[in-house]
Amino acid sequence: MRKILVTGALGQIGSELVLRLREVYGKDNIIASNRRIKEGHMNLIESGPFEIVDINNMDQMSKVVGKYKVDTIINLAAILSAKGEKDPSSCWNINMNGLINVLELGRAKDLQIFNPSSIAAFGSSTPPDKTPQDTIQRPTTMYGVTKVAGELLCDYYFKKYGVDTRGVRFPGLISYETLPGGGTTDYAVHIFYKAIQHKRYTSYIDKGTYMDMMYMPDALEAIIKLIEADPSRLEHRNAFNVTAMSFEPEELAASIRKHIPDFELDYDVDPVRQEIAESWPNSLDDSVAREEWDWNPKYDLDTMVKDMLEKLKDKLGEI
Ligand code: NAD
Ligand code: SER
Repeated sequence: MRKILVTGALGQIGSELVLRLREVYGKDNIIASNRRIKEGHMNLIESGPFEIVDINNMDQMSKVVGKYKVDTIINLAAILSAKGEKDPSSCWNINMNGLINVLELGRAKDLQIFNPSSIAAFGSSTPPDKTPQDTIQRPTTMYGVTKVAGELLCDYYFKKYGVDTRGVRFPGLISYETLPGGGTTDYAVHIFYKAIQHKRYTSYIDKGTYMDMMYMPDALEAIIKLIEADPSRLEHRNAFNVTAMSFEPEELAASIRKHIPDFELDYDVDPVRQEIAESWPNSLDDSVAREEWDWNPKYDLDTMVKDMLEKLKDKLGEI
């Protein structure tokens, strides 16, 4: 059975991925880690092994890999787009120097490495509609720079050292368990909290701004499917385009109104995040992932909205 170390496990993805992986591979085989304990995660921490690991601390990470005989690292520790623009040097340090540590461990101990990229790896010179798998990548955020460099670095470690690196370019992820950690697509999560609690949301992303999105259950299955994929079918390995839906704020609001008819949406656009959003694709072409490892998301806009509202109402204790 695999032994998987998940870094950054108390973030938006990790807090759900760890529990899903523990269902699939057994609770003792999934080592959750984060650089610090965060409030609200005692369930996860107590559901299996948990260690404090800072990916910028090679010694610490290496000891945990040795202690548990880890054979796979899913590296989720990172600084996302909006936070990265506030502190570009930390963004570079964690997303790049941390990743190099992960890859070096992969090389030394023959580990499989999953490292997610993002739609942020594209920029305004990228074809924005049905963005192809292989295309122009000139991002304008520090986060995007680290994501392109990370894709290349993972390719390099595979080609040069034979490290089994794999990854996808995730779109904005929508989930109800843990709030997003400071990205540009976060509006598409915050809107649900406000819709349930106040029937009103003020969006920092302008109407008409399309971005790719995905519901968390599909994102978790993408990770598991790709780490398990037959390597002989993988021509791209790292940075597969994956998407499940593309919408702009008015379309999301219209879908929410099918369940909360008096929901109101207005705008107070944040120029920084708006500029970032406009530099990203409107919609990705994910046909290569479908061909090479049978990627096939289950949720579209309406099924995601229905499930999100049900689950979040439960969580927030609303009827
Ligand atoms: P997040 O910000 O919610 O979580 C990141 C976690 O990493 C946090 O718990 C943080 O405490 C931890 N962390 C930060 N620095 C660390 C360090 N040096 N060592 C160890 N832990 C550290 O992020 P997320 O949304 O879960 O994203 C995980 C990965 O997926 C990132 O690489 C991100 O770029 C990518 N991704 C996420 C999305 C999304 O919408 N959530 C979209 C595209 C790509
Ligand atoms: N959700 C992420 C962000 O907005 C995309 O990588 O930063």
